[in-house]
Amino acid sequence: MFNIILFGPPGSGKGTQSEKLISKYGLKHLSTGDLLRTEIATQTPLGLEAKNFMDKGQLVPDEVVIGMISTALDANPHSKGFLFDGFPRTEAQSEALDKLLKLKKTEIGVVLAMQVSEEELVKRLLNRGLTSGRSDDNNEEVIRARIIEYHKKTSAVADYYKKFNKVVYLNGEGTVDEIFAGLCAEIDKRLS
Ligand code: AP5
Repeated sequence: MFNIILFGPPGSGKGTQSEKLISKYGLKHLSTGDLLRTEIATQTPLGLEAKNFMDKGQLVPDEVVIGMISTALDANPHSKGFLFDGFPRTEAQSEALDKLLKLKKTEIGVVLAMQVSEEELVKRLLNRGLTSGRSDDNNEEVIRARIIEYHKKTSAVADYYKKFNKVVYLNGEGTVDEIFAGLCAEIDKRLS
């Protein structure tokens, strides 16, 4: 089993690159953002609670997302590996993920961290907001709040995995295909 964390600030291209990576490597894509939006669309109590945080650009409480990931891992016992997108986002989530994977006798293989300037992130997300229907994309204040939340709480995730020598930084600016090639090169090094 080979498990990857695709890491980076909001708008860095995690969702875009995840689609290509899961298709090339046959991994199961686990995006907490997508799981939460499904909960919101089906108006579950969890979704209604999460929406309050997401609309303000804040992180949803750790116990909510850890529970969702635990359920998703159990639901995919035969996966070749998992691609985590948008999770973990706090040190507590990182520790919880490591414990969950240990129970399954596996671990994170690599954390691929995409770096993109703040102005490019805001430009990409405002642009997507024109068509995405995502309530956290169409307001620059909320987009900037998401980026602040990333620096305050989520950048610690890279520091956590650096202790285990698992983090690789890549330039997240350029064409989608150029960035994909860089990500694949790092994965292939570890698979061979
Ligand atoms: P989530 O859904 O995870 O959103 P995000 O991290 O803010 O990331 P995005 O989906 O906005 O961006 P991305 O990096 O995937 O980039 P994408 O490929 O889409 O989370 C949403 C919210 O849910 C959070 O704010 C939080 O409230 C909550 N949440 C989720 N997970 C949580 C967790 N673990 N704990 C607590 N709360 C959690 O690309 C963005 C745009 O750029 C697209 O339009 C794309 O076409 C474009 N683009 C992509 N690559 C390029 C490129 N190379 N050049 C130009 N444009 C590009």
